Amino acid sequence: MRAFLLVASWLPAILAGETGASYFRDVRPILQRQCQGCHQPAVKSSGLDLTTFDALETGGKRGPAFRAGAPAESLLVKYVKGDAQPMMPLGATPLTAEQIAWIVSWIAGGAKNDTPAAAKDTISLDRPPVYLQPPVISALAFSPDGKTLAVSGYRELLLHKADGSGLISRLVGQSERLNSIAYSADGSTLVAAGGTPARFGEVQIWDPATGKLKRSVTLTADTLFGASISPDGKEIAVGGADNSVRLLDASSGKELQKIGNHENWVLGTVFGVDGRRVVSVGRDQAAKLSDAGSGAFLENVNLLRGELAAVARHPKKNVVVIGGEDRVPYVYLMDRPKVMKIADDTTLVRKLPRQDGLIAALAWSPNGKMIAVGGMGPQVNVYDSDSGTLSVSCKGHEAGIYAIAFSPASDRLATGGFDGHVRIYNAATGELVKDFVPVPLSAAVTTRE
Ligand code: HEC
Repeated sequence: MRAFLLVASWLPAILAGETGASYFRDVRPILQRQCQGCHQPAVKSSGLDLTTFDALETGGKRGPAFRAGAPAESLLVKYVKGDAQPMMPLGATPLTAEQIAWIVSWIAGGAKNDTPAAAKDTISLDRPPVYLQPPVISALAFSPDGKTLAVSGYRELLLHKADGSGLISRLVGQSERLNSIAYSADGSTLVAAGGTPARFGEVQIWDPATGKLKRSVTLTADTLFGASISPDGKEIAVGGADNSVRLLDASSGKELQKIGNHENWVLGTVFGVDGRRVVSVGRDQAAKLSDAGSGAFLENVNLLRGELAAVARHPKKNVVVIGGEDRVPYVYLMDRPKVMKIADDTTLVRKLPRQDGLIAALAWSPNGKMIAVGGMGPQVNVYDSDSGTLSVSCKGHEAGIYAIAFSPASDRLATGGFDGHVRIYNAATGELVKDFVPVPLSAAVTTRE
C-alpha cells in the first residue's frame, strides 16, 4: 500500500518531466528485466544490445537507441510506446506508463551515464570473467553422450571434458548466478536457470555444439531455480522466488504456463516419465504435482516436514526423492493410488537415513540403482535405491555441497559446492578420481599459492 502511494505521488512529477530519472537507478533495471533477453551481446535482435550505456548509444540496425534531450525522436521511446512497430518488448506485456515515463525523463534530462565506475560491466563474450578465487558451484550436469560436464560459474557456464582433464568452452551470459543446469535427453539443448539477485531471473537456452545462446528469457525480479526439461525435450520447467513454476517452450522460450500454487520460493522441479505432469518443491515444505498441459494443481505429494530444496526422479518410474531442511531424503510415488486424504502419507515408499546437515542436492542414477544425497554434511552419501542401504560415502569437500550429477553410464559422480572445487568420484567405490577448480584463476592468485 505504502509503495503504491509513493509511486502514485511521484508519477505526475515524472510525467511532467520535472524529475530527472537516472540511467543506472531507473532505466537500467527496466532494460535488464524486460529487454535484455533479446538485446544482449550473445543475442542482439536487430543488432541492438541494451545491457550497457555504451551499447545503447551505439544502437542497432536503425542507429543509436536514444537522442539526448529528444525523447520523441529516440528509438527506445518510439518502440516501447508502439509509435514504431513491432512494439517492444516483443510479444510480452508492454511497459507501464510509469516505466515509459522514467525512460522519457532520463532522455529529456540529457541521457547521462551515471553508472558508478565500480558497476561498469567488464565482462563480455570476448572478455570472460576473471576469478581471484573459485566461485561457489551451484549446478553441474553431464551431457547425455558422457563427453562433457557443464559447471556453473559467475556470469558463465563452463563446459569441461567429462573426466575433468580440460576446459572446452566458456558460455558467457548476463546472469550473475546460475542455480541449475540441465541437458535435454538428446543433448541438443543445454538449459541454465539463474539470474542476478533482486534484479532479474533468466532462463538461458544454449546450443552446446556451437556454444551459441539460442534464447534468453528474463522472468521475474529475482533469480530462478531448479530447471528441468521434459523427456521429449519440448518443455522447460523452472521455479521462482515469486512462488511460481513456469513452463516454457524449449525452442521459442515462450511461457506456456505459470503455476502458482506454492506459498514460498520454488527450488526444484522435475517432469514425470511421460512429460505430462510436473513435481515442484520449495520452501513452503510442499512437493506439488501439477498438470503440465493446463498448469492445474493435482495433489500434494508429501506430508509437510520442513523446507524442501531438491527433487530427483527415478529414470523410468514416476517415483521421486525429495529432501531439504529436516535432513531426511524421502522417496515418494508421484501419484496417489488411493483417494486423497489430507495429511496422509500412503505414497511414501521409503525414508533414507538422516544426513549430517541440510539436504541441498539429490540425484538418481541413470541406471535407476543409486540415489546420491548431498548438502551441508559435507559429504555425498550414495544409497541403494531399492533397499535404502548406504553403499558409499564420497568425501573431500570442505564445505556444503550444492550440486550432484551422475554420468550417463552411472559409473561416475560429480559434485560441487561452497569450496569451488569439482570432484569426480567412482560411484561404485566412492574413490575420488579427480579434483579440480573449474575456472581459470588469475595469475595474481596462482603465484601467491
Ligand atoms: C522477445 C524478444 C525481444 C524483446 C524481449 C525485446 N525486443 Fe526489441 N527487438 C526485437 C526484435 C526481433 C527486433 C527487430 C524488430 C524488427 O525490426 O522487425 C527488435 C527491435 C528493437 C529496436 C529497434 C532497434 C534497431 O535499431 O533496429 C528497439 C529500439 C528495441 N527493440 C527496443 C527494445 C526494448 C526497449 C525492449 C524492452 C522494453 C525490447 N526491445 C525487448 C526483439 C525483442
